[in-house]
Amino acid sequence: MAPINVVVTGAAGQIAYSLLYQLAAGNVFGQDVPINLRLLDIAPAMGILNGVVMELEDLASPLLSDVLPTDQPELAFKDADAAFLVGAMPRKQGMERKDLLAANVKIFKVQGEALDKFAKKTVKVLVVGNPANTNALMCSHYAPSIPKENFTAMTRLDQNRAQAALAIKLGVVVDKVKNVTIWGNHSSTQYPDAAHATVEKNGKVQPVPEAVNDESWLNQTFVETIQKRGAAVIAARTMSSAMSAAKAAGDHMRDWWYGTQPNQFVSMGVVSDGSYGIPKDIVFSFPVTIKDKQYKIVQGLNINSFARSKLDITAKELEEERAEANHILQQ
Ligand code: NAI
Repeated sequence: MAPINVVVTGAAGQIAYSLLYQLAAGNVFGQDVPINLRLLDIAPAMGILNGVVMELEDLASPLLSDVLPTDQPELAFKDADAAFLVGAMPRKQGMERKDLLAANVKIFKVQGEALDKFAKKTVKVLVVGNPANTNALMCSHYAPSIPKENFTAMTRLDQNRAQAALAIKLGVVVDKVKNVTIWGNHSSTQYPDAAHATVEKNGKVQPVPEAVNDESWLNQTFVETIQKRGAAVIAARTMSSAMSAAKAAGDHMRDWWYGTQPNQFVSMGVVSDGSYGIPKDIVFSFPVTIKDKQYKIVQGLNINSFARSKLDITAKELEEERAEANHILQQ
């Protein structure tokens, strides 16, 4: 089989360090798909990146056809089939959320322009770098020749966290819990929603709300735990989630590439088409099913008034981020 061209940005960083192993091991694109890895980072990180390249060689993986470390977006994105946009400016002490947004939307503008010029028009772009939803939106705006459906933001880590928390609560193995949804922004306004999730326990499939049988736990403890999980990991580890973020990025891209399982949906930040009354032209996390590399937003889920208020809060935050990002890019 001909190799596919896969870009990882922020390739010298901590998420990439775990993600690259998964790519080399065939966990994302499969055991029989060779990969040309294009590793993008900034000039000061090239020394570290060379060390990563040495380790990639030492994996002795037959799937790695070619590995290119570079600080030039035009080389990295040339004929790209898939791109993991992980690289971003981290929040530094004393930095306001606005400053972080300003630094990052500029990076994603440049990368959008490079994708537009150099990548294949079918390229699948997964934005991991924060603020992931708004970065994905900006990246897509600056790549007008690539369909906007090809730009997604990662909320799969939040989905995996939510699924794991429910499995622990219910005393089952994590894959017995299905169809948990993350709505909205990959931020503390996201709404982790178990209302449509199911669990298989003692051979019987049940709705999660029925199995948990504790509305206040589901509406408060569960929601807040998932919303604050990233901060809890930072507090404990002194660094942000990396291994689990890389696993989630692999899960997201694998499902996009090969499709979702029957009767199952996954959450992805995608450009809103107005489903569920969400404003258009923001990247909002919805439940989706995927077939032939095309996703469809799951329709017809019942949204009660509690869920509605949560969806509206996170949509409003995304509209505000979009306004700030547009303002910054027009300056
Ligand atoms: P890190 O700081 O270890 O690595 C980031 C890398 O990006 C560095 O090597 C840096 O040099 C590089 N970089 C900076 N600007 C770049 C540019 N213009 N082009 C290419 N590379 C560039 O950070 P880590 O832990 O790997 O996290 C990366 C991003 O992922 C952060 O923005 C983090 O907030 C975000 N994240 C997102 C999650 C999600 O669920 N969506 C979960 C966890 C982290």
